[in-house]
Amino acid sequence: MLKFKGSLKISGDKSISHRSLIIASMSCGITKITNLLESEDVFSTMNILKALGIKIKKEKNKWEVYGNGTCGYMEPHNTLDCGNSGTTARLMLGAVAANPINCTFIGDKSLSRRSMSRVTDYLKAMGNDINLTRKDFLPIMISGNDNLIATEHEMLKASAQVKSAIMLAGLNIHGKTVITENKPTRDHTERLFKYFDINFKIKKIKNGGSRIELIGPYEIKSKNIDVACDPSSAAFFVVGALITPLSNITLKDICLNPTRIAYLKILKKMGGNIKINKTKNICGEDIGDITVEYSKLHGIKIDSHISPLLIDEYPILAIAACQAKGKTIMNGLSELRHKESDRVKSIVSNLKKLGYDITVKQDNIIIKGKENIKLKKQKIRSFNDHRIAMSFSILNIIFEDQLIIDDEKCINISYPKFKDHLNKLLSK
Ligand code: S3P
Repeated sequence: MLKFKGSLKISGDKSISHRSLIIASMSCGITKITNLLESEDVFSTMNILKALGIKIKKEKNKWEVYGNGTCGYMEPHNTLDCGNSGTTARLMLGAVAANPINCTFIGDKSLSRRSMSRVTDYLKAMGNDINLTRKDFLPIMISGNDNLIATEHEMLKASAQVKSAIMLAGLNIHGKTVITENKPTRDHTERLFKYFDINFKIKKIKNGGSRIELIGPYEIKSKNIDVACDPSSAAFFVVGALITPLSNITLKDICLNPTRIAYLKILKKMGGNIKINKTKNICGEDIGDITVEYSKLHGIKIDSHISPLLIDEYPILAIAACQAKGKTIMNGLSELRHKESDRVKSIVSNLKKLGYDITVKQDNIIIKGKENIKLKKQKIRSFNDHRIAMSFSILNIIFEDQLIIDDEKCINISYPKFKDHLNKLLSK
């Protein structure tokens, strides 16, 4: 069997890449971005910014964004296509909200099935005129408005995308915009705002939540950005090395933001031999190297309160769980049903097909690990979901290439270099 060996610097973080482009576009001056993730989702954001009049070009290995201020977008001539990217749709709805322009957002089939009222309800409360398809979906027409009302918002669902949309809109609202989130979600927008010297307040509240206060309008000065490497992409190789005998790898310069690496704590609790070595801070984010060795894993219970911080890693955690001894219980997965696919269904149907003992009770999954697997040719459905395709590509290493994944092209959504990097890490 192949094993994972060696060390590698993987691609830039998707969440930080979207935000870098958007915040740079709302600043004054030129921002140069290095290690930007060049994936389909990030290109969706980039193309929309270009359609809004922002000049963006690549010079050698740096992307240059010519910012036009917090109210500098021009009315686009065409519809704005978010492709498969929920982050693009939600963040860009917020970014255009306080500009006096009309925009129509569209997306692919999967994105057009995902809820957008979770963002637009807040924008409507600020005074935006918005028309959604069947009250919840793309295509959406939004009339931006440079006279939005500064108000207080309480996050009803734990969502970094929705929080970020309100924060971006708040940059050009006169007065105090307040956001309270009761459960923590990824905080890259807050960190980049600080890095860009945006003067806003953030206070920790009980249960790890926070209260954010913005007093707009702001003028932001451009500042160069180096994007940390993506911890969610690293998760595939981390689990690959943990479950494949004789493996030992180091992944370099990974973003160690605590809202993104909760999965490492879970894997350590399962018995994973993982070492984290913090090396420096870039643009407000700690980065470092993660070293992982093959380990005998055991099942654990994962509480629902931590689920917002594991949302992108459940598919690969399920792969770890099916190789662990005993039962793994994952609780509180309702939000997982609203991602690029219904990930509860995508995980469960594929693992069942492979003979794993996996049950779903409401929004909880129970997986019984099995050490001895029967190798036989089997088709896996990715449901056009990049994280499902990559998770089963990792399982395929210990299935010795017997799995046929139906549509691997979707991997380009978040990690076009995945196969290339996987091959670099694998050896006989
Ligand atoms: C993201 C937030 C998460 C995550 C998504 C990227 C972001 O979604 O699943 O892949 O960049 O803000 P939520 O909005 O549900 O937190």
